[in-house]
Amino acid sequence: MTTTGVSIRRLRDHVGASVELAGWLQAKRSSGKIGFLQVRDGSGVVQAVASKKELPEADWAEVERATQESTVRLTGTVTADPRSPSGVEIQLASFRVEFLTQDFPITPKEHGTAFLMEKRHLWMRSSRQRAALRIRSEVEQGIHDFFHSHDYVRIDSPILTPAACEGTSTLFQTDYFGDSAFLSQSGQLYLEPAISAFGKVYCFGPTFRAEKSKTRRHLMEFWMVEPEVAFLEFEGLCALAEEFVSALVARVLDRCSEELKVLERDIAPLERVVGPFPRITYTEAIERLRAQGNPIEWGDDFGADEETLISEAFDRPVMITRYPAAFKAFYMQPAPEDPRLVLALDMIAPEGYGEIVGGSQRIHDHDLLLERIRAHDLPIEAFQWYLDVRKYGSCPHAGFGMGLERFVAWMGRLEHLRETIPYPRMLYKIYP
Ligand code: 4AD
Ligand code: MG
Repeated sequence: MTTTGVSIRRLRDHVGASVELAGWLQAKRSSGKIGFLQVRDGSGVVQAVASKKELPEADWAEVERATQESTVRLTGTVTADPRSPSGVEIQLASFRVEFLTQDFPITPKEHGTAFLMEKRHLWMRSSRQRAALRIRSEVEQGIHDFFHSHDYVRIDSPILTPAACEGTSTLFQTDYFGDSAFLSQSGQLYLEPAISAFGKVYCFGPTFRAEKSKTRRHLMEFWMVEPEVAFLEFEGLCALAEEFVSALVARVLDRCSEELKVLERDIAPLERVVGPFPRITYTEAIERLRAQGNPIEWGDDFGADEETLISEAFDRPVMITRYPAAFKAFYMQPAPEDPRLVLALDMIAPEGYGEIVGGSQRIHDHDLLLERIRAHDLPIEAFQWYLDVRKYGSCPHAGFGMGLERFVAWMGRLEHLRETIPYPRMLYKIYP
């Protein structure tokens, strides 16, 4: 009897059995008498061994005809093979090409990135790309599990919005029945009212920034997870960010070991990512940089080089706190000890991955927030509803945002964010 519906990932549980599989032929080697076929079904890859002597003639002809990325259907016996990554092999009893592929553009030879990006829809079949996207999927589920198990309510923030959250310079504008609308840069402003209904909330969805910066750390469309919590103050916010990031790293180590292997990711640096994370203030960070010869001045924002320099001194993520209000968002709560500073937090990942988390305590005083909106030249009418949060039962509160792609890039030690999202949106590039 032949078992159907078994995925390659689960073949280990079927050693000795006859199984039927459908999938894609990833690669083939043949000696004329024996063929070695690497078959992928989405869950994994297994080597199927074809013997000219044992296969019906028509099936052997199919083995010879099969090309890279043809769709194939086969039956065979599962045998244990400790040398293969899947632990098993299949001895073919039948083999058929269901759809013959001609000239698959991505061959085992090296291709340039521009070419691979044009063929992103096909590139995602490659083993490294599959590993990266599987890690992404695991992290997404880890995010939901973390917040769900901590009693947060998920609040879906809108994508079409009437005003800016993180500054007007990076807004994507669109027409909304004759008015202007903007693609959301962050769900934060919409989460804040929800804390008065649910206490602890989070959103997780795509966000958009027209960043004219062509770096390996910027996408125009990226996914951000954002918790927002009532009565949470700055210390609690730092603790939450630390607990969240450590939990996600542990989850990836626990559940993505095969993918990390495919990516040849050294896991020792990830295993060190346990709390407490080092914390330094912005002012301390400036002093450290200047002591290293960097010309930065107090009041300047950090660029990617500065972030990397700061993070190199630590073996786990570093939390930089208390930034100058001058270059941070309008809604941040001033530091009690110095009105030039705000209670902002940025978490910088090790190994050069830069800022993965940005957050703050929010202003909860109505008049102060109004003053800040005016000082930032923002349209007051568009923020009336946001000011209402401070009018009807205000409370101290805080939250942060973590960029999914930055986190996944760090986990996989990937060169560029474009490999962490199925269809990256980059400067001047929107195909496919
Ligand atoms: O620091 P940001 O701008 O913070 C906010 O948007 C806050 N409203 C979040 C909050 O407090 N609820 O962005 C948060 C994170 C960054 O730390 C980074 O990980 C990621 O979003 N990010 C990007 N990721 C990819 N491409 C870009 N262009 C990104 N811009 C920000
Ligand atoms: Mg930031």
